[in-house]
Amino acid sequence: MHHFTYRDHQLYAEDVAVKDIAARVGTPVYVYSAATLRRHFRVFDEAFAGADHLICFAMKALSNLSILKLFGSMGSGFDIVSVGELMRCLRAGADPKKIVFSGVGKRDEEIAAALEAGILMFNVESRPELDRIAEVARQRKVKAPVSLRVNPDLDPGTHPHISTGHRTSKFGIPLSQVFQYYAQARALPDLELVGLSTHIGSQITDTGPFIEAGEKLAAIVRKLRSDGIALRYLDIGGGLGIPYQEEPPPPAEYAAAILKPLTGLGVKIIAEPGRVLVGNAGILVTRVLYVKETDVKRFIVVDGAMNDLIRPVLYEAYHAIWPVHKPAADRPSVIADVVGPVCESGDFFAQERELPQVQRDDLLAVMSAGAYGFVMASNYNSRARSPEVLVDGTRMHVIRERDSFEDLVRGEKLVELGS
Ligand code: LLP
Repeated sequence: MHHFTYRDHQLYAEDVAVKDIAARVGTPVYVYSAATLRRHFRVFDEAFAGADHLICFAMKALSNLSILKLFGSMGSGFDIVSVGELMRCLRAGADPKKIVFSGVGKRDEEIAAALEAGILMFNVESRPELDRIAEVARQRKVKAPVSLRVNPDLDPGTHPHISTGHRTSKFGIPLSQVFQYYAQARALPDLELVGLSTHIGSQITDTGPFIEAGEKLAAIVRKLRSDGIALRYLDIGGGLGIPYQEEPPPPAEYAAAILKPLTGLGVKIIAEPGRVLVGNAGILVTRVLYVKETDVKRFIVVDGAMNDLIRPVLYEAYHAIWPVHKPAADRPSVIADVVGPVCESGDFFAQERELPQVQRDDLLAVMSAGAYGFVMASNYNSRARSPEVLVDGTRMHVIRERDSFEDLVRGEKLVELGS
């Protein structure tokens, strides 16, 4: 469910015409819908209502300050993976006691900054990381709250680049070593053992892998309890998919499936959803520059590119493309590749896609671009990153300006060198 709909053939973001946004801020531009963000958070949160729980939005999916503030105001915590994300969510008013710090490569400064902020817990992924966190905590004379991230060794059935729960992946502690880790962590006086975590992958469209992970986690929590280690938190990670093309289970079905094996454990459930909260709440609006026809292909060349949205080439991802002005139903369609100006063959939003005929200056909306869209944008080809606009009812707010040329060269020096 989202709030991008046609009214009289014009695409609207809530009550604002997308063409008006494009006219005001130019293209390409990311447009988000506040009503959709609120709705997604509420539906996800309500799905877990039967359990003591905390939602920690995986802010890597979309980290604009205004979006973080909106989620924070609804009671969300945050799953962070860097000191940059820590500072961002604190700037947006996050409650440090609702922040969990994930990731395999935390630096000492990052650990120190998180301890200083007083976060809820670190999700720890290896023995050397456990030792570093203990050492940084000892130096600062505090106890570090830690949760061990286990790798449940299963196949989440998603794209290999976003699959994390198999034993060959760099993530998590192997099942075979997890009790040994807890025993070792218990012996370190600068740590407080508070939880068990996992995250098996992203864009998962079936409840099976979540249930399998839940059953494995529940067995670990029970065994630890019988060994005298009573955990407070069980962090189930994120990973629920969205309907790019597939039909994932709705949040209520997902939550019911994953909670079933976890009932009666006496732990607070932490969930780290990213994509499912923001994916369908954002679109990338781009303008047609040229329609190029060769003997064998038709290319719609648009002003957005892989530097704006890299998902199609990186994950073979499908994003629906909608015309901002919907033509009459009898207008003939064409088969075309939608490509950008970047000098790479991988610079496309769609290949061999059936679309309505378009011409120069027409606007297209790349749908479901709210998650891992803007946050993965780069300045490749010295292209400015797009502005971000948040629509709320009849109002539009520019929540990030387009990069200026000075932004592109910020920090660079023109040094004097002999030729
Ligand atoms: N928790 C942890 C520890 C994670 O690593 C991730 C995502 C999440 C939660 C949130 O997962 P989600 O609910 O969004 O599936 N750039 C890729 C996705 C990378 C996901 C990385 N980790 C894409 O565009 O598909």
